[in-house]
Amino acid sequence: MLDSAPAPAPLAIEVRGLKKTFPVRTRGAVPKPGPSDSQAGANPASPPERSPSIPAQQSRRSATVEAVSGIDLDVPHGQVFAFLGPNGAGKTTTLRILTTLLPATSGTAKVAGYDVSTQQDQVRRHIGYVGQLGGTDLDHATGRENLVLAARLYGLRKPEALSRAAELLEGFDLTALADQETSTYSGGQRRRLDVALGMVGQPSVLFLDEPSTGLDPQNRMNLWDQVRRLRAQGTTVFLTTHYLDEADALADDVAIMDHGQIIARGTPAQLKARTGSATLDDVFLTLTGRALRDTDVQEVRS
Ligand SMILES: Nc1ncnc2c1ncn2[C@@H]1O[C@H](COP(=O)(O)OP(=O)(O)OP(=O)(O)O)[C@@H](O)[C@H]1O
Ligand SMILES: [Mg+2]
Repeated sequence: MLDSAPAPAPLAIEVRGLKKTFPVRTRGAVPKPGPSDSQAGANPASPPERSPSIPAQQSRRSATVEAVSGIDLDVPHGQVFAFLGPNGAGKTTTLRILTTLLPATSGTAKVAGYDVSTQQDQVRRHIGYVGQLGGTDLDHATGRENLVLAARLYGLRKPEALSRAAELLEGFDLTALADQETSTYSGGQRRRLDVALGMVGQPSVLFLDEPSTGLDPQNRMNLWDQVRRLRAQGTTVFLTTHYLDEADALADDVAIMDHGQIIARGTPAQLKARTGSATLDDVFLTLTGRALRDTDVQEVRS
């Protein structure tokens, strides 16, 4: 074939041995050894004693956090894929690597057939990303202006950008607010605009990091409709959520991540059957336990 365009990738997302380690610098008051430290009942988790000769404000420790510990993941085209896990499991870190916002420490990842470390521009052209903390940068712009600007950045001409913006404003029930500055929007209204911004470029893979956080039940249902519509059009949707009923209702396939590793993978029905659970909440608690997560910081010895 003379055409230089690559053949369609068999997988929307292909991850091999992906690892991300963050350096962490901690500083500040390490408590000076005092009489209470030697008493029975002192907190065994308290930091180790420092030499009293080091002033508190100069105490620094180097440490690392392994946020993603060598994961493998295949997601076929056209699926809604739910990426679940407790706080701090490594979901957002993985999404940021897949969307080229963060370099991996090691391992490889392809999105829409393109390598996230060596073909960033191609990856970016094929994806949409709605971050956990939102994406509306322009507080003094209106919802419509934000959408038109995003559409223009994707290469649409002005009339097309205006009509794409109008379509998304309508889809997310934002038409009445379209010409107000986004600084006046409520949390849920901003979140809807964030998700609309992620859809502007009609991406083939859409990453949504907790898209429904802060949405009322009506808008959550509306978001579910939008996600289903995208799937019907062939878009792959990769989403994280802590609403497990949402994952159950929407996802074709689910991965559960904990402590940087994928600990379970399957359809919601398969995971329920495997763990003898009635709901995905039960699956989640069975597999990840009930203990709250502490950050797994490892001291670096120098
Ligand atoms: N820039 C960073 N520097 C240091 N540590 C980080 C950084 N970003 C994330 N981490 C750590 O990596 C781990 C995974 O964080 P991540 O944000 O990926 O979790 P998450 O699964 O998205 O959690 P949540 O459900 O709370 O959003 C956590 O321990 C976090 O503290
Ligand atoms: Mg997160």
